[in-house]
Amino acid sequence: MRSPERLAVTWSSEPSFAHVDDARRAAARWGLALYERPRKGSLQRALGTVADALLVRGGDGWTLVDAGGSLRVTPGLALLRLKRLASGGALPDLLLRHAGITAGETIVDATLGLAADARVLASAAGPTGRVIGLEASLPLAVLLSEGLALETPWPGSAPLEIVHARADTWLRAQPSRSVEVVFFDPMFERTKAASPAFQHLRRFAEMTAISRATIDEARRVARRLVLMKSSDPSLFPPLGLEPLAPSSTASVYWGRLVVR
Ligand SMILES: C[S@@+](CC[C@H](N)C(=O)[O-])C[C@H]1O[C@@H](n2cnc3c(N)ncnc32)[C@H](O)[C@@H]1O
Repeated sequence: MRSPERLAVTWSSEPSFAHVDDARRAAARWGLALYERPRKGSLQRALGTVADALLVRGGDGWTLVDAGGSLRVTPGLALLRLKRLASGGALPDLLLRHAGITAGETIVDATLGLAADARVLASAAGPTGRVIGLEASLPLAVLLSEGLALETPWPGSAPLEIVHARADTWLRAQPSRSVEVVFFDPMFERTKAASPAFQHLRRFAEMTAISRATIDEARRVARRLVLMKSSDPSLFPPLGLEPLAPSSTASVYWGRLVVR
């Protein structure tokens, strides 16, 4: 994992009492160091001395800052997808089409990232469902967990529970057939341009490939489906996943294992 060696929690340069409180609580909850930032103190000076990356509570929520830039949690891309789904638009959401989620299901998003897919899955699972988002990177897990807690969820969504864990470790500890779907969207060494948020995510993300052993565990834990999204379809057969027919213009490919 490309996690910073040293991660600390702090607040913005002119914080409210509530933001200072939030930062203190988050540091305690996650067992992280707290940087008591002086009023108007420079973050750039703190980086490299106090910590390699800082989780900053400010008026615009939580931001993860390091020498390479900053990353925030926003509904972003998920919002466009959720609005399109709500308006009954003609274009299908490929994740929901392939996952076939019905209300009340429990879904594991084993590679949470910025939670765009998890938010869409949560909208389909509905208030009686459950979405568990696994994130191996501690800075990303804290950013997402604290950031999402400040948001108003999309109406009628399942609660989104965020767990700081590697997918393989978490899955091994679960009972067999205890969730409906396990979904993976792992990182790849891409050369093509990514969105700014994604470029920042890469500095913190877990980059190791998902192994066949992890897919086998997912198959044991899932009652219905193991699904993977990838930019490289050649990956699916060695993992025991059936490649789904791509559209002629696809840059994203889907592989699945239907559990019977
Ligand atoms: C491509 S991003 C996922 C993007 C996500 N689907 C979204 O909609 O924002 C992959 C994320 O999964 C995390 N990750 C990669 N391998 C993992 C693993 N084995 N267990 C848990 N998290 C993992 C990475 O740290 C990264 O944040």
